[in-house]
Amino acid sequence: MKTRIASRYALALLLSGLAAAGSRAAGPVLRIDANAPTKPVSPIFSGLMTEEINHSYDGGLYGELLQNRAFLDDKTNAPVHWTLLAPAGTAAEMAITQAFPLTDKLPNSLEIKINKADPKNRVGVANDGYWGIPVKPDTVYQLSFYAAGNAGWEGKKKHAPKEAEAAGKPSLFRGTLHVSLESADGSKVYAQADTQPVGDHWGKFEVTLKTGKDVTPSAANRLVISAGDPGILRLSLVSLFPPTYKNRPNGNRIDLMEKMAGLKPSFLRFPGGNYVEGNTLWERFNWKETRGPLEFRAGHPSCWNYRSTDGMGLLEFMGWCEDLQMEPVLAVFAGYSLQRQAVAPGPLLETYVREALEEIEYLTGDAKTTYWGGVRAADGHPVPFKLRFVEIGNEDQFDHSGSYDGRFAMFYDAIKAKYPDLQLIATKPVTSRKPDVRDDHYYPRGFDFIKDIHHYDKADRNGPKIFVGEWATREGAPTPNMMAALGDAAWMTGMERNSDLIIMHCYAPLFANVNPGGSQWTPDLIGYDALHSYASPAYYAQMIFRERGDSIVPAELQGEDGMLLPYSVTRDAKNGRFIVKLVNPEASARKLEIKVDGAKIASLAEAVTLSAKTPQDTNSITEPDKIKPVASEVRNAGAGFSYELAPYSVTVLKLRAAN
Ligand code: AHR
Repeated sequence: MKTRIASRYALALLLSGLAAAGSRAAGPVLRIDANAPTKPVSPIFSGLMTEEINHSYDGGLYGELLQNRAFLDDKTNAPVHWTLLAPAGTAAEMAITQAFPLTDKLPNSLEIKINKADPKNRVGVANDGYWGIPVKPDTVYQLSFYAAGNAGWEGKKKHAPKEAEAAGKPSLFRGTLHVSLESADGSKVYAQADTQPVGDHWGKFEVTLKTGKDVTPSAANRLVISAGDPGILRLSLVSLFPPTYKNRPNGNRIDLMEKMAGLKPSFLRFPGGNYVEGNTLWERFNWKETRGPLEFRAGHPSCWNYRSTDGMGLLEFMGWCEDLQMEPVLAVFAGYSLQRQAVAPGPLLETYVREALEEIEYLTGDAKTTYWGGVRAADGHPVPFKLRFVEIGNEDQFDHSGSYDGRFAMFYDAIKAKYPDLQLIATKPVTSRKPDVRDDHYYPRGFDFIKDIHHYDKADRNGPKIFVGEWATREGAPTPNMMAALGDAAWMTGMERNSDLIIMHCYAPLFANVNPGGSQWTPDLIGYDALHSYASPAYYAQMIFRERGDSIVPAELQGEDGMLLPYSVTRDAKNGRFIVKLVNPEASARKLEIKVDGAKIASLAEAVTLSAKTPQDTNSITEPDKIKPVASEVRNAGAGFSYELAPYSVTVLKLRAAN
């Protein structure tokens, strides 16, 4: 594959060299026909796709800073991401116990037997977060946890601290706890506080930790809970949140929300992707298990090799939509899991159909007159959500049992009977029913995308509308490079020219934690670690393409010089502006004549350009701003003008109507 791409570059270089040597004198002409009938651009054309992959939520967007907060992450019962701090002069041990569950959903707690400690020789436990804990100056962190002293010790001898056991009496831990946000080696303490004494039974502790103004931002940090008294201490659901976007409780990381806001997304497709399916039927996205207080969210193994806390649950997805004013596109589990487990259409599937109906009622039902609407109100959102799109499953073309047609029909009939206005999305072509929309997915290399820009030009306009629910050029890692941005931009021109048919599209995957082991799929649009995030060139291609009109203007590229030059033209009825998108995937600059027939164009126009020196150039955590869009003025615009496209560039021209 590398050789093929490399030879394409070589060919492109050769051709562009020839062109520069003179064969391009006439040059291509983009003829825009302002008099021709237009088609409307879908008003919800571009959005976001999301699922738990690459630590997108846990260790990503979801604000929680502590990893393994409920001690459920390790099958061997070792408290991963927790360390016992028992310095000289103390004696202690820690283990996970199931003897004192906080709730039936959170059966594990961390038991610390403190055999020897005093106020000057403290025993503690530390959590190292998701590849660190971001500490920033003048910032308020909300810590909460459950702690219990000795309750239930009697009769459970193995839970007694050794010294107490030797003395034949229980050791009652009744001390206060000290909590601190500190550097990984403990040499710097950024914020600290003491709690009230711990009681016999589970009690919730909520502590505010505020850092000072002169703290330098860092990630190599830990959260420590320590005690200066002997006894048995148990901890459960230990959670630390930084400030969240719009201060939403249990909310999202601010920088990542801001990056998404920069794309002005119209909708959010969730919760998958493969994540909705799960590896097995019992590891599906079981929405009921993701609602309610965190104390009752057990989490589940995700299909991307780590456990999900389900802190990002169904209601949190909706909050995310509200915060960014996005329309929800809800994918429901449709009886098929990744290990090729398909539930046959018929009585067995009814359970899952009912689960989907209940999910829709939870989101849209009246709080007073529907059961699940009432549950939603009790969960904190009395006002029903607006929902127009429901996707039945994900990538069911991989179900080789051929059950999707039958499964889709059962979901379709049940949902349409109760919610006739809902638009139902099929994940592959079906014949049993006519879906309102079909979801198509694409993950090619850059030049394959560029060559495929006419994919939908002649597609059937009488069939279902199209949702390109996952697409991305697979070049660059962990995030897309400039070649990917060129492939993506080319593909987006094709989608935009067909945005009468393609009502929605969204890139996938959206996020990657770029730490070693943090991601399972490349490339991903936005990269981050605990402290920083950055946007890829592909992100910027989408950002500048977000500027679009409301109608598709017919245009034609004439006198092509044998090189690919993807384009798309839309017009904004509000101000009469033409928005011209152009992609030059080649190594040389290219001169293009632009002619607008049937409209007067002002001589002053605007251009926004994204370009790079090589297709492999990219942004990264250490060089986040290497490739960024640059805005400029075009002073020679008009109904006919010439414009030079930079090598390896994506350009958006905004042509104003002349008075
Ligand atoms: O986007 C990554 C994965 O690609 C999605 O989970 C799945 O739908 C597709 O195969």
